[in-house]
Amino acid sequence: MVIKEKLQKAINKQINAELYSSYLYLSMAAYFESMNFKGFAHWLQLQANEENQHAMKFYAYVIERGGKVVLTEIAAPKAEWKSPLAAFEEVYAHEMKVTSLINDLMKLAKDDNDFATESLLKWYVDEQVEEEANALSIVEKLKLIKDSNNGLFMLDHELGGRK
Ligand code: FEO
Repeated sequence: MVIKEKLQKAINKQINAELYSSYLYLSMAAYFESMNFKGFAHWLQLQANEENQHAMKFYAYVIERGGKVVLTEIAAPKAEWKSPLAAFEEVYAHEMKVTSLINDLMKLAKDDNDFATESLLKWYVDEQVEEEANALSIVEKLKLIKDSNNGLFMLDHELGGRK
């Protein structure tokens, strides 16, 4: 069954949101690179890649359901943050926003009785639990570290190990 117009439009909008997430995290990676925090930058670059995959999963789905992907302009992300903590607080806030967008899509799919889209979105619902938890755990570590350079270097080392 071809995906309905309204849901197709909403998923296209979500493709833009996922690509924006990727762009935002890549900008944060560049910010950390500029401060020589290679581990934070590595973590964020992998996160940017993941966001791109989230966009591509929706992209493939729209096509598979006989819809059309329409790409729109991606807003420019910020380039500077006032501290590593401020950057990761923004990651966490952004992920909570994405969770609410996914939840809104789920409501639309349910209203439409589109079980296939519900099934796809279930994957994103679960993914968001992990995304929020990962971001929050880094925020909490940064809060403990405060202004300790030692702590920052240790966390930078830890995040550099992300596979
Ligand atoms: Fe695609 Fe981080 O949510």
